[in-house]
Amino acid sequence: MSKRTISPGGTITGQVELPGDKSISHRYAIISALAEGTSEISNYASAADCQSTLGCLRGLGVKIETSGNVVRIAGAGLDGLKEPRRALDAENSGSTMRMLAGVLAGQPFTTTITGDDSLRRRPMRRIMEPLRQMGAEITSAEGDRAPLKIRGGKLYAIDYTPPIPSAQVKSAILLAGLYAHGVTTVHESVATRDHTELALREFGATVESGRGIVRIHPRPKLTARKLSVPSDLSTAIFLIAATLVLPNSSLILHNVGLNPTRAKVLDFLNGIGAGIRIPSLQSRDGELAGSITIRRAEIEGGTIAGAQVAEMIDELPMLAALGPYTEKGIEIHDAKELRVKESDRIAALSEGLRQMGAKVEEFPDGMRVEGRSAGKLRGAKVDPRGDHRIAMALAVAGLGADGETTIRDAECVGVSFPEFFETIERLRGGEKER
Ligand code: S3P
Repeated sequence: MSKRTISPGGTITGQVELPGDKSISHRYAIISALAEGTSEISNYASAADCQSTLGCLRGLGVKIETSGNVVRIAGAGLDGLKEPRRALDAENSGSTMRMLAGVLAGQPFTTTITGDDSLRRRPMRRIMEPLRQMGAEITSAEGDRAPLKIRGGKLYAIDYTPPIPSAQVKSAILLAGLYAHGVTTVHESVATRDHTELALREFGATVESGRGIVRIHPRPKLTARKLSVPSDLSTAIFLIAATLVLPNSSLILHNVGLNPTRAKVLDFLNGIGAGIRIPSLQSRDGELAGSITIRRAEIEGGTIAGAQVAEMIDELPMLAALGPYTEKGIEIHDAKELRVKESDRIAALSEGLRQMGAKVEEFPDGMRVEGRSAGKLRGAKVDPRGDHRIAMALAVAGLGADGETTIRDAECVGVSFPEFFETIERLRGGEKER
């Protein structure tokens, strides 16, 4: 297990195009596997999670070739997946397990899907419940945890409102809806990321959405596509934050995914003084992407609550860790979900930031991180608890601290952004980290 030490200081400057979006890559891979013909996905995410999806699809008999970040997937068609010989391993990836569960619910065979220690602790009732209502038989380990044994079969359409806003749950139901008898409907109180809907349409499915309702028609003809994945805004956020932390910094990010269901974090940051600009915006394969420019700015801080939580769920760790660099601090409420991510993110951040000298109050559903007046952060040895986003958030917080910050088990960043440390160092002109 490797640790990484971050020396503080330096300036972020330059331009970069980051690896492909994790959420979009998962969906393009899964839907390509169900399509007729060979799809080609370029700029496929380098994230380990997206390799986990490819591994599971291979386990279902799908032929996949990769060359650099280009992935070619020979679609098996809706009815061409094969019963796997052994359990599928989603490793650390909640998206892989939950979305594939939707596909597996429609297969005429039984599949076991498992994951690493973290994933086997995460709640799965949220997908078991609707998929059972549709007709799948699902058994789990105690407490509705993985491994899940899914006996698929004849499915019926449901009309379902997930109790917690979740794109993974919505996607599992929509993917199962491909196999259902009738039109499946999901109601959303908060619009979660809509990449599944957009991708399904790109491949030829009929998906209707609007006013908090998403509907999928069954048994479409899905046709192979050539697609390109934009860069991941949830990864870009760490570089955006580093630019806000380090004096005289300015950065241009190219081809960043700016789907409106993902980009609320930019509105939030601009609302507190960040001055992020989007000089160009294009639509490609149904998704929006563009360039982002960002300069170091004084940010005010603020509160995140209600619908904002689901809209910025993956950016919350970085926003919390920016708290000590703001005027008024960052406060998060209504975010109990953060406790059931790759780690208990509220506990992991509170611990790490306190070790760095931040003043943090922890709530059952959130936290408050005091602003600049509580004092400057100091470098510390911190434990990200195996969680990629905690490791990167604490590393960025360390850039503006007094003294070095050592991140334990820092290789966990590979789950979403294997190039994180190298990218930060390259943009800082090197020599600042060992
Ligand atoms: C994701 C949805 C979110 C997010 C996760 C990726 C997706 O999870 O936190 O990193 O790709 O659909 P939930 O659906 O659990 O909110």
